[in-house]
Amino acid sequence: QPAFKWRGMHLDVSRHFFPLPFVKKYIDILALHKMNSFHWHLTDDQGWRIEIKKYPLLTAVGSKRHETMVDKHFEPYIGDGTPVEGYYTQEEIKEVVQYAQARHIQVVPEIEMPGHAMAALAAYPNYSCFRSPLDVMTKWGVSEDVFCTKDSTLQFVKDILDEVCTLFPSQYIHIGGDEVPKTRWKQCASCQQRIRDLHLKDEHELQSYFISQIDQYLHKKGRQAIGWDEILEGGLAPHAAIMSWRGEEGGIAAARQKHPVVMSPGSHCYFDHYQGNRQSEPLAIGGFTPLEKVYSYFPVPEVLKPEEAKYILGAQGNLWTEYIGSPDHAEYMMLPRVCALAEVLWCGKQKPGYIEFKSRIRKHFQF
Ligand code: ACM
Ligand code: ZN
Repeated sequence: QPAFKWRGMHLDVSRHFFPLPFVKKYIDILALHKMNSFHWHLTDDQGWRIEIKKYPLLTAVGSKRHETMVDKHFEPYIGDGTPVEGYYTQEEIKEVVQYAQARHIQVVPEIEMPGHAMAALAAYPNYSCFRSPLDVMTKWGVSEDVFCTKDSTLQFVKDILDEVCTLFPSQYIHIGGDEVPKTRWKQCASCQQRIRDLHLKDEHELQSYFISQIDQYLHKKGRQAIGWDEILEGGLAPHAAIMSWRGEEGGIAAARQKHPVVMSPGSHCYFDHYQGNRQSEPLAIGGFTPLEKVYSYFPVPEVLKPEEAKYILGAQGNLWTEYIGSPDHAEYMMLPRVCALAEVLWCGKQKPGYIEFKSRIRKHFQF
């Protein structure tokens, strides 16, 4: 039986869109490894990929960008001039959820808020702080434009989550929460009024207010919010689970507050990092996370007491796709690291050891 309850992989389909047959193949690879959670990163600054009936511009506008930055040509910016678009219809989403269910895999959708929302704001600029026209981003990074904390934006997000909850039966709904610059909120009359009305200390508490509203809304619907570890800043929402990516500190803090945790530290679980010698690898975002490092991972930090450790549900590998533009490349980055993570999560302390694992991994060359 598995050592951990949450044995997951994430796939970013915003930065690059991946067609439905590949999403199913991805799920097949997870099932082959007895993984049981597929975190589908459906929205981000560079593309909105899920059909929402109430807000058709999310896909009509937000699923398209006019080009993509070439390699790392941020400054001066160089674009490739090639338009990109793609999204999944609600029928396709249902098909994927069923396909995964038949393989004992939960699909956890992620709708990013209040940051990483440029595709949504390009479609509906009214939900930003300054309502100015915005574009779906064509380069990578963090945008200063984020959702405004005014009531109309909260309602917009709740409406979206209504449709998301209808499509996805999972207990957890991922609401992002990472990398939210506070620049616009500091200048926005509505956001500043909100801070005064609620006697909040600062913009970090304003982020907690936003996340807590959504946390409560999902709770009332019988679901549970999960977010990146930044949602701890300014106070953790009452029902939220944490996905710890900036190391394990966020996960440790959340476990001590008796909140469920999924570990996904950049050091061991980011499969968009290099896995070999940079000279012989395709261009990647950075980092170095070779197979042996993934295999060495154990998701329960030693500093936790046993009664705290039980809040660690497991771990997850993340596949961000800024520099991963095709199914073949995605498989190259995922494999064989997912094999190592699967063994970490299934075997726990009974893990056979890297040398023995390496002899078994050769089998995968046949596929
Ligand atoms: C993240 O990698 N920004 C969660
Ligand atoms: Zn605002």
